[in-house]
Amino acid sequence: MAKTKTVFFCQNCGAQYAKWQGQCTSCKAWNTIAEEVVQKAEKNDWKSNTKTTKTNRTAKPLRISEISSGNETRYNTNDAELNRVLGGGLVPGSLTLLGGEPGIGKSTLLLQISLQLPYKTLYVSGEESQQQIKMRAERIRSKTDNCLILTETKTQNIFRQIEETEPDIVIIDSIQTLHSDYIESSAGSISQIRECTTELIKFAKETATPVLLIGHITKDGHIAGPKILEHMVDTVLQFEGDRNHVYRILRALKNRFGSTSELGIYEMQGSGLREVSNPSEILISKKDEELSGTAIASTLEGMRPLMIEIQALVSTAVYGTPQRSATGYNLKRLHMLLAVLEKRAGFRLGAKDVFLNVTGGISVDDPAIDLAVVAAILSSNEDISVPKDFCFAAEVGLAGEIRPVTKVEQRIQEADKLGFSTIFVSKYNKISLQDNKINIRLVSKIEDVVEYLF
Ligand code: TYD
Ligand code: MG
Repeated sequence: MAKTKTVFFCQNCGAQYAKWQGQCTSCKAWNTIAEEVVQKAEKNDWKSNTKTTKTNRTAKPLRISEISSGNETRYNTNDAELNRVLGGGLVPGSLTLLGGEPGIGKSTLLLQISLQLPYKTLYVSGEESQQQIKMRAERIRSKTDNCLILTETKTQNIFRQIEETEPDIVIIDSIQTLHSDYIESSAGSISQIRECTTELIKFAKETATPVLLIGHITKDGHIAGPKILEHMVDTVLQFEGDRNHVYRILRALKNRFGSTSELGIYEMQGSGLREVSNPSEILISKKDEELSGTAIASTLEGMRPLMIEIQALVSTAVYGTPQRSATGYNLKRLHMLLAVLEKRAGFRLGAKDVFLNVTGGISVDDPAIDLAVVAAILSSNEDISVPKDFCFAAEVGLAGEIRPVTKVEQRIQEADKLGFSTIFVSKYNKISLQDNKINIRLVSKIEDVVEYLF
């Protein structure tokens, strides 16, 4: 019988201590250190017996020239958005962690993917019963019948089932519900998460099976568990969006096998998640009459150009201190733009309430939407609408100058494709585009835009 040992872990960063203390010396957080029982068994391996696995490699040092490349075969997930975010599909032997708020659709996304994969998939759930998963699966139209559902939380039992069924892909919902026999503490604790992830990594690397993990997030938006979890896995994906809106965004926070600037967009429907391949069309509200206070911005989400609608409402303040609020946009930046408008363009906005909203429930930090924000605010203030086939792609500087933005040609092409008649960009952008129908209006100061629009 192995000796029982207790260790103190910081619940914030996962640092380990021999005794309790008030502040974590590693991450400086207060009151985050808790005691956990750690019991090590003699054998710590995912395999229950010594059966040889598919590719039982023993590592040997090799020269970089000796390592064969080119045989990078990825598993196609049959989901264009997920493939794009992963960088072309699932890499054999990789561990992918999918995080997101409760109810955002993590289980729905992975179940849907396992139901459409042409490979044998094992979907392990520690959160729902097989009947509940069946009910969910009935809502999602399933394309194949290769998916096995297992409800289990003990890693040793999961590995026993894996050895028996030999799946090509393993999905775990969620890492916080797993527990390993080798560790005494309860499921979801730092030491359990670390141990279960280590066992899964070992399994994934030894058998070249891709493993997808669902991870809960804490109330401040980080993946629950030690930070080391994010270091251990190969890819960290985040599923985000406003639960009250139908659009969900999948982005890579870390990707050892691809870029982190790619982005996938889904729409939550009654029958599961639908891939959105042309996001611009849905983010712009289709309306016939022109309303004041709206302007269209051309932004880049990852590598994809995206047209989004900015709405502003400027009204006389009822109270002494005017209110400023922004949804989907940085409030500090809104304050800055209002100060620029006051000082450089002579608009008296100091005593007005200003509300700003990026439609579709998405949040944008691309500075290229500044000019559209300015146009929406002025349009609401003057009560003159911006023609609905105009769009904007430029940053606004502190001196009221219109600054160039990255990938302007891609933005112009997207606007052109969607039938916009005019796009406002900075004069300082170098543009070498030909044969576009769209009229490119080069501006250098806010005054130029104001003069043209109002
Ligand atoms: P779920 O996937 O269980 O979220 P998570 O695993 O991230 O906690 O949540 C799905 C939510 O989406 C739930 O509130 C119901 C809704 N939903 C749909 O709108 N359509 C569907 O087809 C399904 C399966 C779920
Ligand atoms: Mg879930």
